[in-house]
Formats: sequence, C-alpha cells, structure tokens
Amino acid sequence: MKDAMIAAQPRPAAGDPRIIDGKAFAARLRQAIAAKAGLLKAGHGIVPGLAVVLVGEDPASAVYVRNKARETVATGMRSFEHRLEATTAQAELLSLIARLNADASVNGILVQLPLPRQIDPQAVLDAIDPAKDVDGFHVVNAGRLATGGQALVPCTPLGCLMLLKDRLGELSGRRAIVVGRSNIVGKPMALLLLGESCTVTIAHSRTRDLAAECRRAEILVAAVGKPEMIRGDWVAPGATVIDVGINRVPGADGKTRLVGDVAFKEVLSHAGGITPVPGGVGPMTIACLLQNTLTAACRQHGVPLPE
Ligand code: GUN
Repeated sequence: MKDAMIAAQPRPAAGDPRIIDGKAFAARLRQAIAAKAGLLKAGHGIVPGLAVVLVGEDPASAVYVRNKARETVATGMRSFEHRLEATTAQAELLSLIARLNADASVNGILVQLPLPRQIDPQAVLDAIDPAKDVDGFHVVNAGRLATGGQALVPCTPLGCLMLLKDRLGELSGRRAIVVGRSNIVGKPMALLLLGESCTVTIAHSRTRDLAAECRRAEILVAAVGKPEMIRGDWVAPGATVIDVGINRVPGADGKTRLVGDVAFKEVLSHAGGITPVPGGVGPMTIACLLQNTLTAACRQHGVPLPE
C-alpha cells in the first residue's frame, strides 16, 4: 500500500521549492569565482593555475578530469593537464608531484582517484604540498579542519555546507546526521557541521537502528554509496536532506540511470528540502574545486581573497 502511495505521487515540478538546485547554485558560484579571478588578475597580475593529474584510462575519471579542466579555463584560471600511462610507476608520479610543488604557476594540484594498483594513494596524497592541496585530502589539511585551523577543505562537503547554509541560514544548534564516515566526505562533513555548532551524529554500517537515528535529525547528509538506502520513513517531516550518492543502477528500459543514496520521491513528499541526483551536490564539487584553487593562489601570494 505504501509503495502504491509513493508511486502515485506526482513528479516534482521543475522549480519545486523543496528541491535544492545545486546546478543553479554552482553556476552562480562559478560566476562569482570568475569575477574574483578577474579582480585578482587586474589588481595583482595573478592568474591561479590548477594542475590535474590522471593516471590510466578509467573512462569516468577521464570525464571528470576533462570537466575540471574546462571549468577551470572558463573561470579565467590556468589548467595544466597531466595524463600518465596506467603502468606509470609510483616514483614517476611522485617526481611529477615534486615538480608541480616547485612550480610557482601551479597553485593547486589534484591527482584524480582511484589510482592504478601499483601506486599507493596515501603516499601520493602525502607528497602534495598542503598549500596546493585543493582536494583537501592531505593530513595537514584534515588536521587543520579538525582543529579549527586555516584548511583547504574537501570540495564535496564544502559544497554540501554551502547548500545547507543557503537553504537554512543559521545552522547553530541544529541536529545533524552524516551517514557515512569516509575521509573524503563523511568525516570532513561532520567537522564542518560541528564548526557551524550543529549537534552532529556520524552514522555508519555498524550504527544500530539507523532509521531511528536519521529520524531525529533536522539535517541529513547521505554519503554511503548505496542506491536509495535512505527511505522515506527515515526522514523527519521538514528535514533538509543532502544526497551525496551517485549510483548507477539498471533502469526499466534496459539502460542505466543515476540514483542517489536517498529514495528521492519517498523523501520529497515530506522533506523541507532535498538535493536531486543528478543536479544536486555533483555540480557543487567542481565549483568548490575552483574556489579552493582561487583561495590557494591568494594564500600563496599573501593577498586577500577578492570580495
Ligand atoms: N575521484 C572522484 N572524486 C574525486 C575527487 O573529489 N578528488 C580526486 N582527487 N579524485 C576523485
């Protein structure tokens, strides 16, 4: 009966106020970054540069890297693309990173993950100069985020926080749950929410009665990588839901389709706001990468971020 009710719900209209439009927000953010990059060039002669390194031919990674490079140039910054063979030795990659660390025209370095098996990703992340670590994955930046220092913050959680602040304004005192405890999303997301004085729960695969934990939250961030795991009755009425998941599943027509970690239609019926997949968090990630590149360039040159 419940499934029939869910199926009978009308499709959300475009412009539905409950839908948090990350695509539109990211477009505005990119415009603002482009304007700041213009001011930085005009005022100080600085053009931020982002180096993106791709090892191997993973098709999804190749698409991400291409999009990152295109957006970097469109924002008025420099893009340096480095494509290495799948068989590249770790020492060769580390030597490229050393060159990029020493290159003053490179303000940000991103090594696309995952890496081929012969390369230890932690050794690579550790080798990037923390000042150029626009992914925010270096242990120094993770430590600064945890201790309230001046960190470069991982792009996806930074984008999620921007969407939440835009939607809810002041976050202080709100009950938030982050489902997922990865170093890339879950942990930094929880720290960012704590930094906004939320009361934060980090839930994961061993959490007991996850549904009940989720129902207590006013803010729910799902970052587990499990298609539509968060069901409608896990979400409190009026809660704001940020769906970080991007899962490819078989569609009815034999093609694949993208779904998030949240059962979107079930949750939309009573949530205060929810990000769609695609078009929610995804576009924010690249926009925040550009923002981090601009921030890194300003810090390296000792100039304030243009207003
Ligand atoms: N692979 C998938 N997402 C990311 C990301 O945000 N940064 C890097 N470096 N690799 C990724």
